[in-house]
Amino acid sequence: MAMPEPFPAALVDRRPDRATITADVLAGLSARPRTLSSKYFYDARGSALFERITRQPEYYLTGAELELLQQVLPQIAAQVGPQARVVEYGSGSGRKTRLLLRALTDVVAYTPVEISRTALLDSVGALAVDFPDIEMLPVCADFTAPPALPPARRPARRTLLFFPGSTLGNFVAEQAVAILRGMRAAMGPHGLALVGIDLDKDPAVIEAAYNDAAGVTAAFTLNLLARLNREIGSDFDLHGFAHRARYVVERQRIETFLVSHSEQVVHVAGHAFAFAAGEAMRVEYSHKYDDARFAGMAVAAGLRVRQAWDAPGRMFGLRLLQPA
Ligand code: TRP
Repeated sequence: MAMPEPFPAALVDRRPDRATITADVLAGLSARPRTLSSKYFYDARGSALFERITRQPEYYLTGAELELLQQVLPQIAAQVGPQARVVEYGSGSGRKTRLLLRALTDVVAYTPVEISRTALLDSVGALAVDFPDIEMLPVCADFTAPPALPPARRPARRTLLFFPGSTLGNFVAEQAVAILRGMRAAMGPHGLALVGIDLDKDPAVIEAAYNDAAGVTAAFTLNLLARLNREIGSDFDLHGFAHRARYVVERQRIETFLVSHSEQVVHVAGHAFAFAAGEAMRVEYSHKYDDARFAGMAVAAGLRVRQAWDAPGRMFGLRLLQPA
């Protein structure tokens, strides 16, 4: 008798190990200003806290994107056509994925590329129940260096890369262009990409989104330290740092920091790092775009904007890209 297949049958697992995370953290703490990589935000608690951020009244991004997506999905489905393979960078809760998979006709396979194994398995497990006819081919990996996509059983007519949520904005222009270039390679000559971008707007509105009154965003950024303490044995004092997020108008981005309350020493893998009182450690950028800036990045990556949709008040944007 055949053994039951472990679920999912075809997980490509390239999740970062302890040595990789430790090396990343040591390099970041040795840099000036010190930095911590935001890709480690999303452990189980981090993913749950981010989900709560998306429901805070100040965090306009998710609501605006969901509404816009619902409105324009019929147009997107018409352009994508039937039997597409859908690849998503960062799977998140799957709310947007569900809308997309439901709107497209006869999707062949769905491949989320997600660094958090828990988030990946939870979301793909739930999607498999709702979409039994779509082959689920999850990849646990850092989407800035994605491995080759696992082949689908049925041939696809084209590949659609889905990159919602303004995650692209968490990268500086050079890295964002590299990610877009990787997407162009992954989508092939007839592929398309649907990318979410936050649009530049009133700095007060943007700043409030990253400093919600309920303090969920502060808990989220501090959870990064808790995660590192647990997973690589560092000794960050969770009460020794404070969340700070400011919009820098000239650079069109939110800069999020963890600021040391006092002079203190943090130990990581046998190395000691002395922090001054008030020293800020950078944990995230969230870039906000105007059309010229985003189109320029697309061009630099060998892509062009085929269609652009903006939410009312230019609160958020969706861009459909194709090879130039
Ligand atoms: N991609 C999200 C964004 O830039 C992630 C995010 C939301 C985030 N709030 C944050 C990252 C606070 C770090 C800190 O909007």
